[in-house]
Amino acid sequence: MRIDILTILPELLKGPLDHSIIKRAKDKGLVEVNVHNIRDYANNKYKQVDDYAFGGGAGMVMCIEPVDLLIGKLKSERHYDEIIYATPDGDRYDQKTANYISTLRNIIILCGHYKGVDQRIRDQLVTREISIGDYVLTGGELAAAVIADSVSRLIPGVISDETSALTDSFQDNLLAPPVYSRPANYKGWKVPDILLSGNTGEIDKWRLEQSIEKTKKRRPDLLEG
Ligand code: 6GU
Repeated sequence: MRIDILTILPELLKGPLDHSIIKRAKDKGLVEVNVHNIRDYANNKYKQVDDYAFGGGAGMVMCIEPVDLLIGKLKSERHYDEIIYATPDGDRYDQKTANYISTLRNIIILCGHYKGVDQRIRDQLVTREISIGDYVLTGGELAAAVIADSVSRLIPGVISDETSALTDSFQDNLLAPPVYSRPANYKGWKVPDILLSGNTGEIDKWRLEQSIEKTKKRRPDLLEG
């Protein structure tokens, strides 16, 4: 899978994408992430990428031309399955969307800033708008990193334990059950006996019950689906 991220702050994406699972996915050749600086496509001599909003009001708008030039260049090189705009007024991101995006070959993620990008980019070029939750970030970069991370780990071969991505919280609309490791007794804080029993059938049953109880308590909305 190839992910092209379009941003006015490429430095913000260096850290999150160069470590951990995404790094492993990149090293294995399973995911390619390219970060593009929108400012490189600003044709005026000040390299300006934002301008005042028509109609007035506070806040700047991301200019249409540099974004259009960059997307146009990328589209001339390959087909993109989705052109995603990361914005707080997008559709709420969830595991279902992550699963879908992980099946794609080439995607663009455009990171919003200021008051956002000129609406004509959204109308003419963007195919999907994503918000990662009901709070406001200063820009779409952290959201793009969240999307890239959550999608990369679903690509076969990225996580060594193939089944572990399937037992994550949310994968079946249930929160994950509690987990324990050695020692079985630490300062008198004990691991549930069932997990030490060796009875895999009973252990699976216990884990499912724990998942259901936790989901009922914390996220009853997930059980309605
Ligand atoms: Cl995608 N961008 C910004 N700026 N804020 C957000 C967001 C995105 N998702 C939630 N908050």
